[in-house]
Amino acid sequence: TPSPLPINEPVLSYAPGSAERAKLKDALGKLRGEQPDVPHVVGGRELRDGASFDVRAPHDHSLLLARAHEGGHAVTEKAIEAALAAAPAWANTSFEERARVFTRAAELLAGPWRQVINAATMLGQSKTAFQAEIDSACELIDFLRFNVAFASRLAEQPVSSPGILNTLELRPLEGFVLAVTPFNFTAIAGNLPSSCALMGNVVVWKPAENQVLAAYHTMRLLEAAGLPPGVINVVHGNGAPVAETCLRHPSLAGVHFTGSTKVFQSIWRGVGENIANYKTYPRLVGETGGKDFVFAHPSAEIEELAVALVRGAYEYQGQKCSAASRAYIPRSIWPKVRDLMLDHIKQIRMGDVQDFRNFMGAVINERAFSRLAGWRDRLKSDPNAKILADDGWSRENGWFCGPTLVELANPDHPVLAEELFGPLLSVYVYDDAKPEGIDAALDLVDRTSPYGLTGAVFARDRVAVGHAVKRLRQAAGNIYINDKPTGAVVGQQPFGGARASGTNDKAGSAYNLLRWASPRVIKETF
Ligand code: NAD
Ligand code: ALA
Repeated sequence: TPSPLPINEPVLSYAPGSAERAKLKDALGKLRGEQPDVPHVVGGRELRDGASFDVRAPHDHSLLLARAHEGGHAVTEKAIEAALAAAPAWANTSFEERARVFTRAAELLAGPWRQVINAATMLGQSKTAFQAEIDSACELIDFLRFNVAFASRLAEQPVSSPGILNTLELRPLEGFVLAVTPFNFTAIAGNLPSSCALMGNVVVWKPAENQVLAAYHTMRLLEAAGLPPGVINVVHGNGAPVAETCLRHPSLAGVHFTGSTKVFQSIWRGVGENIANYKTYPRLVGETGGKDFVFAHPSAEIEELAVALVRGAYEYQGQKCSAASRAYIPRSIWPKVRDLMLDHIKQIRMGDVQDFRNFMGAVINERAFSRLAGWRDRLKSDPNAKILADDGWSRENGWFCGPTLVELANPDHPVLAEELFGPLLSVYVYDDAKPEGIDAALDLVDRTSPYGLTGAVFARDRVAVGHAVKRLRQAAGNIYINDKPTGAVVGQQPFGGARASGTNDKAGSAYNLLRWASPRVIKETF
């Protein structure tokens, strides 16, 4: 029976003095004191195989949050065996029963688990309370609920005729699915294994090394919601040996990946190398990197544009696949936009995310800090680049990269093409004295970067909006008019991009869920 579409989970404000703020502070205090030895979870059992590694808060080098273990070939083999052992019973579990597990997980997360997983996301991934709330609470709850509702509507039945009954059954894939998840969204990490499992599949889940704490609590949440042992098996670590073991296994039935383009390409290559060994063609779903644009028309509303640029580029330290990282602004309005942006940037507070006044925390780790510092150094010595803001960089207590704004004279500069994944926004100021200048800028937006994830068009002129949206048809899988390019809401703006940004299967939608089903048609003659 089709379930009604849910209402999106309301965002809590965590206002000073609110009950939710008190609960969150309590949860933060508890997690700071716990420092769990995080296990792999195989067939419902905890395993601690492999060398241990420390998980620290990105904004506080002295804060040890947890220890986890490098999963290698042996533990991955065990995880695959456990998944395959659980497969027949899970495939025979009715959709309604499977749906009950994930609906229950959503209810628990909306209730008593909310602050635990938010606190784990704040400490482990350096998200502010607001950024954690929209990710690990609202977006994950929405994924769980919308997946159930969309999945319940999928099996459109074929036509029957007198004496003939045709039915279509959505079978799970034959084998196991490997889910590999990124550090930056607890919701995405929880959704990738859950959506496959909801469709009746069994999963080996490899969370990111920098998201271990939130992944640990997410798995505990799913278990508390009644997920049977072996349906989702978790292996921690750096990913390479886990992927290698899974990719050469004949029962690999699919890969559900979100992360960088480079890693997804290596997984795709691995599948290609093993293609003759599989029982079935593995489904490959990968949502990958972005170089997300903001294009402003001369008719753009200036204050709205400046705020969107600052929020789009610097919220969560620019570590959203959807973050605004290149902007094309007409010369006629740039001085005003720039000055407003600089005013806003000056007011940004950055630091420990447990201080609720901070707007930014730290970037995820030393590797990210060094990569971003390298770009900043390169831009500082580039005569084609003018750095307009870059206060706040510091590595002493945590990996802090200040909100950085750079104006480029060269539209083909690599900083306008490559994903940086940090709080660095590059602006190219285009000549809008003649109408051809606007078309030339749209052409730059479309061709400069290989990615195609999100983008925003700012214009009050409706004709200009229509023209830009048409011209940029392939430049973004999610395009926003007069809004920042971040913050897609499950069920409202199904999310994903094409080109180097992924297979565009739109997480949390029917398009995605169908990738985890293998339809069978049964013709019965009377
Ligand atoms: P990443 O590619 O470094 O890591 C992603 C996952 O892959 C992690 O679990 C990691 O351990 C694992 N991994 C690393 N090397 C591997 C290997 N050789 N084989 C198998 N697995 C391996 O990405 P990240 O830094 O965690 O996340 C940031 C990236 O994710 C950015 O590129 C961002 O744009 C992208 N992202 C995309 C979306 C989207 O919806 N398009 C959403 C979130 C993040
Ligand atoms: N929901 C996230 C965003 O759009 C991925 O930023």
